[in-house]
Amino acid sequence: MIQTLKVELAERSYPIHIGSGLLSRPELLTPHLTQKKAVVVTNTTVAPLYLELLRSTLKKGGISALPVILPDGEKYKTWETLNLIFDALIGGHCERNATLIALGGGVIGDMGGFAAACYQRGMPFIQIPTTLLSQVDSSVGGKTAINHPRGKNMIGAFYQPKVVLADISTLETLPDRELKAGLAEVIKYGLIRDPDFFVWLEANLDKLLARDQEALAFAVRRSCFNKAEVVAADEREAGERALLNLGHTFGHAIETGLGYGKWLHGEAVASGTLIASELSRRLGWLAAQSVQRIESLYQRAGLPSHGAPLGAARYIELMRHDKKVRDGSLRLVLLKEIGMAVLAEGLDEATIGAAIEARCT
Ligand code: NAD
Ligand code: GLY
Repeated sequence: MIQTLKVELAERSYPIHIGSGLLSRPELLTPHLTQKKAVVVTNTTVAPLYLELLRSTLKKGGISALPVILPDGEKYKTWETLNLIFDALIGGHCERNATLIALGGGVIGDMGGFAAACYQRGMPFIQIPTTLLSQVDSSVGGKTAINHPRGKNMIGAFYQPKVVLADISTLETLPDRELKAGLAEVIKYGLIRDPDFFVWLEANLDKLLARDQEALAFAVRRSCFNKAEVVAADEREAGERALLNLGHTFGHAIETGLGYGKWLHGEAVASGTLIASELSRRLGWLAAQSVQRIESLYQRAGLPSHGAPLGAARYIELMRHDKKVRDGSLRLVLLKEIGMAVLAEGLDEATIGAAIEARCT
């Protein structure tokens, strides 16, 4: 069964199709292609698993596909790798209305989307996310980027896809550690705006870990529903969208500080969320019992319960590159309660540092 949600952005609105076996359904793709030629950007891990299936589906729809197979990993989310996509597009004589299809996790989606935003000033783009994290978060909402050695996702563009195809069956081949990392972004929606979903996650986490297809489809759908609502209300992150960054300011510091790829993005986000929860508790906003519920859910999901031991000063130095910084001051997403996030500014750095130290030693 296919479930379809919509990201409402006027003339740039697009569907998110969620279900099993979607990679074999040409009719979900062909209406969004403006030309009989597509470029499929993927990586060395995903290509052997799903590239041929996608190519034969496109062929059934009368579409020829030029594959671009990139090295796999967060450490390759760079200018150099991005340039490999441009080399292939130019080498393949791709015109502006050929469609770029990103087939893979968030790294491929973010880089493919950024390449599509730039090539000939913008070519159509489709997201086919194949990790839990990319199905619940990165494929929806049009944030695209590469990393800079000194800051995560520092160079990029807002560029919306034409359609998102979240094929739950691709999660069958996902390594356990990646599935767990994806759960961090799923739990995020419960924490920032959907307390009933948080309660559902407490009750159904074991089913998700066991890859129960129905539970996974529900979690992807509910996450995408939340994300689509936020993006529709605030596409360019003038306000509410910043709340989707719960845990990310601390998490990005961990990823950059340790070197990209050492911790998975979702692991760093989980750890960052625990630091944010600790800080929220110290500010008298979040009850200790709620911090415990959050910690316990992460523990059950096999996610880190401590931060990386970089030292508070280094965290804060790295956090100064965060995209939410205004006039040199940090702005952090914190929690008032489970299901209610706020963007906090003007916080005392000693208090932030103390919360970091409490979670990272
Ligand atoms: P990833 O793209 O590195 O994928 C994780 C690993 O799983 C990779 O080795 C990948 O090759 C492999 N893989 C992918 N699909 C597979 C499958 N079906 N079976 C087996 N292996 C598979 O990591 P991710 O967690 O998907 O994404 C993290 C990235 O997403 C980060 O760079 C992060 O910054 C970005 N992100 C972006 C947004 C956004 O809004 N644009 C939101 C959240 C995260
Ligand atoms: N992942 C955060 C956002 O899309 O805004």
